[in-house]
Amino acid sequence: MKTKRNLALFGLGILLIGMQACTHADEKLPEPTPPPVDDTDYDLLAYNAASAVNGSKLYNDFTKAETGFTTPKDPSVVLANITGFKDFYRCKQCHAWDQKARYASYINRAPTTTRPDVSTFQLTNLKYADIRVLFDKIKNTGGALVDPARTADGTNPALGGNNHPDYGKILSDDMIWDLVKFLKVGAFNTDELYTISTTGAYPTGSRTYSDIGKDGNATAGDAFYAIKCAGCHGANGTSFLLGGKTLGNFTRSNPHEVQHKIVSGQLGSSMGPTAITLSEMKDLYKALADTTNYPN
Ligand code: HEC
Ligand code: HEC
Repeated sequence: MKTKRNLALFGLGILLIGMQACTHADEKLPEPTPPPVDDTDYDLLAYNAASAVNGSKLYNDFTKAETGFTTPKDPSVVLANITGFKDFYRCKQCHAWDQKARYASYINRAPTTTRPDVSTFQLTNLKYADIRVLFDKIKNTGGALVDPARTADGTNPALGGNNHPDYGKILSDDMIWDLVKFLKVGAFNTDELYTISTTGAYPTGSRTYSDIGKDGNATAGDAFYAIKCAGCHGANGTSFLLGGKTLGNFTRSNPHEVQHKIVSGQLGSSMGPTAITLSEMKDLYKALADTTNYPN
């Protein structure tokens, strides 16, 4: 008796599941519920809301309009003391496009009167960095001030021009979170894109690039280029010159810089950011390494 009823219930169950399957066949399964976010963890909320692409722009040149920057956060800071001495404030000048400071692409970028020496502090491998620690380091409350006396001569480190500025007086907290996100999850590990060999030491060292694109797929890269870049740069990258170079030549001689510019866009020009994954970047680099398809 008991077994029979169980069987009947089992049968009914199958029937119901079957009906369910029929009626809802064309509906997608509901998205899994994300784990609850602690709505008092303000750091995590701010980090989650931040933009790595904007962080990439800020790292490049935060004074450009595309970053959302208009005036320094502290109204007593004189904007002209930043814009007239930009290389003392651009992250990329002190930490380099590849985040490897003075130990890779910038091994030969000596200081001049208008720019400081490149930092010894590398910003690679920050994937697992604590967001609050990173935020505080970038903000650097109490750090170097915006002061023309400090930035008067980059070749004289005694003036302190090479010190990490007090960005709490310059950038909003939201912008600093964008930078945190860029450094944690937005920046490429350039070792995955090409090989750089250096000889000597900063500032008189030299560098050579090889294996651009590594194990990327050139055919896929050509297709990506045709869709995302050719419209402006031309089918073979020669429509206009970039600092006297074709796009192919520029990429082969500055692979440390191109990967950043693709993500942030060329600020101040019509070239906006391009969304790109690591494997697409490798493919694109592999394609652009070809001197026949993208001549000098
Ligand atoms: C004028 C040169 C200079 C500029 C510009 C600069 N930094 Fe720095 N940065 C330094 C120096 C020097 C240090 C190490 C000492 C310190 O923290 O003051 C440093 C430290 C850091 C650290 C901590 C690294 C560590 O290992 O502890 C981070 C993160 C950082 N900078 C990010 C940035 C970002 C993001 C920007 C742009 C918003 C920037 N820096 C702009 C010179 C600079
Ligand atoms: C909407 C047009 C447009 C698109 C799309 C575009 N670019 Fe550009 N690109 C430009 C312009 C304009 C410049 C700036 C030229 C200048 O500053 O003299 C530029 C500059 C550059 C530079 C030089 C940066 C420098 O520091 O001088 C590189 C590298 C570059 N583009 C690569 C690319 C790649 C790769 C793609 C595709 C992922 C791409 N661009 C897509 C218009 C475009």
